Amino acid sequence: MKPTILVVEDEVIIGMDIKNSLKRLGYNVPAVIATGEKALEKAEKIQPDLILMDIMLKGSLDGVEVAEKIRTDLQLPVVFLTAHTDPTTLERAKATQPFGYIVKPFQEKDLHTTVEIALARCRAETEIRKALEKEKELNELKSRFVSMVSHEFRTPMSTILFSSDLLRIYMNQWSEEKKLTHIQRIKTAIQRMTEMLNDILLIGKAEAGKIEFNPRKINLNNLCRQLVEDIQVADQNNHEIDLDIESEFTEAILDEKLLHHILINLLSNAVKYSPNNTSVSLKIAAQENYLIFEIKDSGIGIPEADRQRLFETFHRAKNVGAIPGTGLGLAIVKRSVDFHNGTIEVQSEVGQGTTFTVKLPSQI
Ligand SMILES: Nc1ncnc2c1ncn2[C@@H]1O[C@H](COP(=O)(O)OP(=O)(O)OP(=O)(O)O)[C@@H](O)[C@H]1O
Ligand SMILES: [Mg+2]
Repeated sequence: MKPTILVVEDEVIIGMDIKNSLKRLGYNVPAVIATGEKALEKAEKIQPDLILMDIMLKGSLDGVEVAEKIRTDLQLPVVFLTAHTDPTTLERAKATQPFGYIVKPFQEKDLHTTVEIALARCRAETEIRKALEKEKELNELKSRFVSMVSHEFRTPMSTILFSSDLLRIYMNQWSEEKKLTHIQRIKTAIQRMTEMLNDILLIGKAEAGKIEFNPRKINLNNLCRQLVEDIQVADQNNHEIDLDIESEFTEAILDEKLLHHILINLLSNAVKYSPNNTSVSLKIAAQENYLIFEIKDSGIGIPEADRQRLFETFHRAKNVGAIPGTGLGLAIVKRSVDFHNGTIEVQSEVGQGTTFTVKLPSQI
């Protein structure tokens, strides 16, 4: 695509001359603007690749002032085009970090060289900016990871330390039952840490593109019943979990492992983010060539501001309070849904509840 250059020049004849030269040189020149105020407006609107700016302009702003605003507000590159070479103007122009300075009168080849160098420099700077942004993103991810690990591993680790210390101290005084309670606490804490490590490894594998997709015929009925049972045991029956599968669709061609990740994470979230003694439901229905999984709870809900970022790794909503979590579950769910070429949607009302709807093609 031809680079777009905006010309700011108040002498009509010179302006047209520059426009014609630029066009001959293969650039796109959408307008020649005569005042600083209009130049700002137009630059913001069309976001040109480069602005050629005369310094002496009619109106209240001169070219240097406009260039300064363009640099700070719009971050667009400016090349000055002027008959002024006095030290004061030069100093003022320099302070706006221009991409070039052409002294009038100039020849077409000087204009060409200056414009090409300015465009190349601008492209290079854009690349550097992108690389820096990427690095910043990675750094943020790293620090979110470190803070998640240190935060989420601390609780189970202190449970293990605490319970094992008590067991050592009261070994001879405590009843068998009391000892078993603490042994169970240690086991649960280790299980939680293992789950977190498995999730971290899984997401790492997904990021590295090392997850396999193996769709085959599965029995939805058996898989879902087993899953609901597992969740109920882990939840110590604090919630009722209703399972409703349209009976004729008990067999489907899906990746069993990935479907397991999808349902276990959505169901355990539904249970985790709802008060005890409320109910959670998993409904499976067929619609044309799709299977629809609907996981519904009457829990804390998800604030609107957090809904867009739910599937990002480590993102947790503001209203989780002390409920533990790594923010990895939904990232795993999203990747598993994507493998199936499916979709996932969320409807939620804070304080009322949440419904996740997953749509997976039934014929892969
Ligand atoms: N059913 C739900 N009700 C309310 N909030 C939810 C629900 N499901 C997910 N969330 C919000 O989305 C966030 C991300 O969920 P995700 O499953 O990825 O992480 P997590 O539950 O915090 O941790 P874990 O990795 O242990 O699953 C949660 O922290 C929570 O804020
Ligand atoms: Mg979760």
